[in-house]
Amino acid sequence: MEDILLLLLFILPAYFANSSPVIFGGGTPVDFGRKAWDKRRIFGDGKTWRGLLAGLVCGSLVGIIESFLLVPAFNYLLLGFLLSLGTMLGDLFGSFLKRRLGLGRGHPGFAIDQLPFLFFALAFASPLYLPSLEGILVLVVLTYILHVSTNFIANRLGLKKVPW
Ligand code: CTP
Ligand code: MG
Repeated sequence: MEDILLLLLFILPAYFANSSPVIFGGGTPVDFGRKAWDKRRIFGDGKTWRGLLAGLVCGSLVGIIESFLLVPAFNYLLLGFLLSLGTMLGDLFGSFLKRRLGLGRGHPGFAIDQLPFLFFALAFASPLYLPSLEGILVLVVLTYILHVSTNFIANRLGLKKVPW
């Protein structure tokens, strides 16, 4: 299995992309308030353009910083952008799924809140690098635990209304 540190450095832009909208998001929703065929919101008010942009910028910035600081095990620059793009689209997809299942904004979606962004990020980054199966399993478990615990903390800090 890959070095765990390398695995963390690889996925770091995705984590920054996923968490920055909590701080910088808000404003006009990505779906502009529009509804889907089932008369429920396409994505909901929790997915905003500002959040989307913040995720792309913050995740890509981490890639840029990594490309300066680290021995080039990967093309961190391009990887950071691809991971961020995948993360934000995966997050949108997760909310799309939740709305189709009739779950309101901020309602706990169990694995839907924690994992689609990771799978999308991995898929988008895969032309450059794909971890081994064991590596992916480590990332799934780690991401789940980190997501649940950081959201709990964000809630306690008053950054998020709900602890998930
Ligand atoms: N956020 C944003 N734009 C995004 C993603 C997130 O503005 N593209 C912000 C919103 O303020 C959102 C918060 O980050 O409430 C937390 O994100 P998340 O938990 O993904 O959204 P929820 O509000 O829980 O909505 P959903 O039920 O759709 O997951
Ligand atoms: Mg949520």
